[in-house]
Amino acid sequence: MVSLRGALIGCGFFAVNQMHAWRDIEDASIVAICDRDPERLRIVGDQFGISKRYTDTAEMFASETLDFVDIATTVSSHRPLVEMAAAHRIPVICQKPFAPTLADAKAMVVACAKAGVPLMVHENFRWQSPIQAVRAVLDSGEIGTPFFGRISFRSAYDVFSGQPYLATGKRFIIEDLGIHILDIARFLLGDVATLTARTARINPAIAGEDVATMLMDHGSGATSVVDCSYATRLAVEPFPETLIEIDGSDGTIRLAQGYQLTVTGKSGTTVKDISPPLLPWASRPWHNIQESVLAIQRHWVDCLASGKEPATSGADNLKTFALVEAAYSGAASREPVRIDDLLK
Ligand SMILES: NC(=O)c1ccc[n+]([C@@H]2O[C@H](COP(=O)([O-])OP(=O)(O)OC[C@H]3O[C@@H](n4cnc5c(N)ncnc54)[C@H](O)[C@@H]3O)[C@@H](O)[C@H]2O)c1
Repeated sequence: MVSLRGALIGCGFFAVNQMHAWRDIEDASIVAICDRDPERLRIVGDQFGISKRYTDTAEMFASETLDFVDIATTVSSHRPLVEMAAAHRIPVICQKPFAPTLADAKAMVVACAKAGVPLMVHENFRWQSPIQAVRAVLDSGEIGTPFFGRISFRSAYDVFSGQPYLATGKRFIIEDLGIHILDIARFLLGDVATLTARTARINPAIAGEDVATMLMDHGSGATSVVDCSYATRLAVEPFPETLIEIDGSDGTIRLAQGYQLTVTGKSGTTVKDISPPLLPWASRPWHNIQESVLAIQRHWVDCLASGKEPATSGADNLKTFALVEAAYSGAASREPVRIDDLLK
């Protein structure tokens, strides 16, 4: 297979993981990079040996022949950049959060559909191998039909030193982290009918909420709780592990801290350590996230080759994004929110 030619837009904190992962994928390579900050362009260009460097996206699109672009900028630039890619008929990956509002996200999906270009949101958490392992247990039928789930991410890790912008936005934990955990809930238990939310801000030094608790009714009839906190100090810091409890008609799944998976089901109880691999370029504690970056980028290349829709396509991600919008509006009104009403 001929290697796909990609360009990366946004050479910041997280893009370095994406660049490492692209280097591990034989069927694709990054041939050009773009960042409006010349210093970030220099650092990433030098680190990964990329000579074609642009500070202006329009200039890059005009000069390069590309098979895809990978957008790793922060949210405010996502819509114009995705629409620019669509106008050039270039398949596009966009980092989460997909857009500032659900209306923007819907417009981006429409722009790519009209242009006939694939669009994937870099919603990588469901690609972590422990999360995939939980999904595989559900698919095996071992615990029967799930009726309850708790998907939990509680930590006191200092995310603000690497990503200072997280301390300044009016929206914080749901938009930045909860979006991943809500997506995992959808991935494991299916689409959501209604959501009820409560939020709090415990850390006085930040602008947004750092605690969120969400109760969801899934279309399948299952109920789940998604709870997220960056204000939870524990004896052993679990960042960035997502902990999972699922109860089914024939058993239970528990993904506990330290990647311990306990399954009690039709064939008894098994306990396994399902720690993710530490890739050569990865570093603890981020390694489960770094592993998922490689997995989602591989998935993108497979989808481009086969014409399959990515699991976290733009259209799919609207259903996760709607949960984010529902959580904010529901926390403000203290009323349950119907998700279908948002997706109309
Ligand atoms: N999926 C994950 O696990 C994960 C983890 C961390 C961050 N993220 C997401 O990745 C995105 C980037 O986050 P970050 O922490 O790396 O941010 P960052 O601020 O470190 O990097 C963003 C870079 O994009 C550049 N940029 C912004 N607008 C641009 C434009 N219009 N044209 C060219 N360059 C532009 C900036 O100069 C900066 O270098 C965010 O949306 C964030 O939510 C995802």
